[in-house]
Amino acid sequence: MNEGDILGIIGPNGAGKTTLLNIVSGFLKPDAGKVILDGVDILRLKPHMIRRLGVARTFQIPKPAKNLTVLENVLVSLLFEDSNIDLNKAKAKCIKVLERIGLGDRLDQYPTLLPAAGLKKLELARILVSDAKVALFDEVTAGLSDDERENMLNLIRSFHTKQRTLIVVDHVLPTIINLCPRVVVLNKGAIIADGSPNDVLSNRYVIESYIGEVKYAEAK
Ligand SMILES: Nc1ncnc2c1ncn2[C@@H]1O[C@H](COP(=O)(O)OP(=O)(O)O)[C@@H](O)[C@H]1O
Ligand SMILES: [Mg+2]
Repeated sequence: MNEGDILGIIGPNGAGKTTLLNIVSGFLKPDAGKVILDGVDILRLKPHMIRRLGVARTFQIPKPAKNLTVLENVLVSLLFEDSNIDLNKAKAKCIKVLERIGLGDRLDQYPTLLPAAGLKKLELARILVSDAKVALFDEVTAGLSDDERENMLNLIRSFHTKQRTLIVVDHVLPTIINLCPRVVVLNKGAIIADGSPNDVLSNRYVIESYIGEVKYAEAK
């Protein structure tokens, strides 16, 4: 990927999407291959070191700090990047993002009180306040209503800049079709298509892998 690209990754459940993000962010080590950031192989770095280099990610299953409020959970993300930051300015930035994402009335609540959709929003907010130059989004819109999903996608759009590289993972196409000029399709750990959303949609292997999944779901 080049700086400023937005790449969509789709594929049926179990395709290896989260595994790929885990490798890029340092949580898993692959048997083979490299992860190059700005010409440097980051494969051996620990997750927090990769985060310090500007690679941020969301988790498909959010695990916020239970003893911190919603606002504090997001604030931590900023403090991690710059411990000398002006706390009032940092708070103001976090509140603005939390308001836009629909958690403005939950700032002082603990995340255990949030519904599943609220946890997804909190997870996304942690990244949107950050200074990340590479951001990895793992199914951030899963379980949200159409309106909420559109809002989240607009927030990701406004987070994107020419210097910011995004990878957006989802198991359904609608989420990424309007956001990502390039889409990679994974199935069973392998790339089965790579191109524009239109190319990918008309690809026989893609159709088969999705129809295969439907059959599997019906069989269950
Ligand atoms: N490239 C791979 N090599 C070996 N195992 C893999 C690979 N990709 C995925 N897996 C296995 O498949 C399981 C599901 O992968 P995951 O990344 O969670 O799928 P997805 O996020 O696409 O639903 C993982 O637990 C992992 O063990
Ligand atoms: Mg996954």
